Amino acid sequence: MSDSPVITIDGPSASGKGTVAARVARALGFHFLDSGALYRLTALAALKAGVALDDEAGVAKLAAALPARFDGGAVWLGDENVTDAIRAEAVGEGASKVAALPAVRAALLERQRAYRQAPGLVADGRDMGTVIFPDAVAKVYLTASAEARAERRYKQLIEKGNSASLPALVADMQARDARDATRAVAPLKPAPDALLLDTTHMDIESAVQAVLAHYRRKSGM
Ligand code: DC
Repeated sequence: MSDSPVITIDGPSASGKGTVAARVARALGFHFLDSGALYRLTALAALKAGVALDDEAGVAKLAAALPARFDGGAVWLGDENVTDAIRAEAVGEGASKVAALPAVRAALLERQRAYRQAPGLVADGRDMGTVIFPDAVAKVYLTASAEARAERRYKQLIEKGNSASLPALVADMQARDARDATRAVAPLKPAPDALLLDTTHMDIESAVQAVLAHYRRKSGM
């Protein structure tokens, strides 16, 4: 396995970790892995192929052969640009379901580790610091209250011209958190050696600076 440095950023949905991780990667010139996108792509591939989301062997087979490609900000499934499609709420729901299947997680394991390349990697997800890169040099667990996260998601949806209900989003957020935190394999929880960063009252830039400072401290730079 490559010994390039890895920074892991884990946390619940809409905690801002995707944005923070991408900016940290850019600041350091590191590669970036959005592992949630792999689970979203798997769910989308299953929905398209008519494979039931609880058909563990069937979904794992799709995950193992996923024709996924990340190109700048764009996400491709085969020759189809699915950048927006994988962000749909239904696909997020599906991702949360297929992510609970052990065979699916196993099918995606080596693919995720392959992103570890020079000069380094910032990996964003749920189990980056606990399962995929336990030897990461710096681990961060980014969170925010369910209400703050629902409000952020609400603003994103409204900005994109969608309709949304804040109470429904809070309820969805709590249900998804519960499923991600209580599943048997790789449940969402901070690695024992992770820096806890609560962004309920913190803007993106402050969070980025806190992660960079943590990385410098841990890597002795
Ligand atoms: O971060 P996201 O919302 O794109 O993730 C989509 C789903 O995938 C989410 O419900 C949890 C799951 N996931 C996971 O189980 N492990 C990861 N490393 C990343 C995401």
